[in-house]
Amino acid sequence: MSPTRSEPRPDLRPAPRSDLRPDLRSRADDLDARSPLAETRDLFELPAGVVYLDGNSLGALPRAVRPALSDAVTRQWGTDLIGSWEANGWWELPLTLGDRVGALLGAAPGQVVVTDSTTVNWFTACSAALDLRPDRYVLDSLVARRGLELLAVTVDRMPAVLAERGADVAVLATSHLDYRTGRLHDLPGLTAAAHDAGALAVWDLSHTTGVVPIGLDAAGVDLAVGCGYKYLNGGPGAPAFVYVARAHLPHVVNPLPGWTSAADPFAMEQEHRPDVGIARMRIGTPPVLSMTALGAALSVYDGLDLANIRRASLSLTGLFLDVLDELLPPRSGVGVLTPRDPAARGSQVSVTHPEATRLVRDLAAGAVLTDLRRPDIVRFGFAPLYVTHVDALIAATEFAELLGAPAGARATAPEPALAER
Ligand SMILES: Cc1ncc(COP(=O)(O)O)c(C=O)c1O
Repeated sequence: MSPTRSEPRPDLRPAPRSDLRPDLRSRADDLDARSPLAETRDLFELPAGVVYLDGNSLGALPRAVRPALSDAVTRQWGTDLIGSWEANGWWELPLTLGDRVGALLGAAPGQVVVTDSTTVNWFTACSAALDLRPDRYVLDSLVARRGLELLAVTVDRMPAVLAERGADVAVLATSHLDYRTGRLHDLPGLTAAAHDAGALAVWDLSHTTGVVPIGLDAAGVDLAVGCGYKYLNGGPGAPAFVYVARAHLPHVVNPLPGWTSAADPFAMEQEHRPDVGIARMRIGTPPVLSMTALGAALSVYDGLDLANIRRASLSLTGLFLDVLDELLPPRSGVGVLTPRDPAARGSQVSVTHPEATRLVRDLAAGAVLTDLRRPDIVRFGFAPLYVTHVDALIAATEFAELLGAPAGARATAPEPALAER
């Protein structure tokens, strides 16, 4: 979830980090040196000394955003004025950005549009999915909550429920990653199970877009949504996206058919005639400045291979878990919620502790930024484009120390200056 309603935070004050355990430090250095993403950290503006592990809530600022926004404001808006809708591609931004996001989702062009917020898109996508199954519900009740039954089941029970209730189930709608536990769900398997039962599958990809190869087309996903401000680094409140599989595009009904979703928006026809493509999922005027920021942010992915990003992500979370195992004192009270199995891990590690609130606050005081999910979860998010293995080591070491890891867990060898990290 974002924004995070956090405790008032003390001023950031980088912790003294002169005493990381040398064997762990050289392991982290080695992993960083060999990382295929060794260069990408420089594409971001990050305050010196801060270990930023909250990119799963709000991605860091890519350097490319500032000049892009400055150009959009000064030249495009300031000088080109209304002509920018055509001359500077403003009108097409939802679609041009949609195809660029689609490339990260394993979606061929023409199936993704960047628009609105995740919540709005979740509504439109789920509504559209239900409409694609008109035989599955009582039409009279469509508007008044549609007369449907919401089967709130755990992901583990979904295949069994689909098998038992298959003929009654219209849509399986869930998140690719559990934002509390960090558990990655089996998107291809559950999509196939939904299809076997005759249902459609709608996925929320907010926590996996940009860090996990998703393969939407290959998995046969029907509809999906996700946000722009986490691993896509589009900035606070960045526009979200919605995916509709090509096969559904001719039939999909946008429940909020604003003027920009029309086939000929400027004709303002009496009857709404939807666009033939993914633009039918647009609603209103696009927020150009936010879209510009997202467009610039997406450039950090240019030339990167998602398989390498996934490898780097698993390496970071793997190292973090290993270091916790090594340094946490006995009876620390920490429970690890995130699966050890890499196949079931996204790009975050969640742990429980009765004093989670204090721990998040004290980590922040040492410039290790994480987040709290009340009452007792600490989330460590690893955005592999700018989080290093040394960051992971620092965070795990400081976390263990806050829980009373013996000072001997550290060594005394001097550390390079923080600015060099
Ligand atoms: C998985 C998921 N879905 C939906 C949302 C809500 O998105 P928004 O507030 O941008 O509409 C969030 C917010 O963090 C999220 O994590």
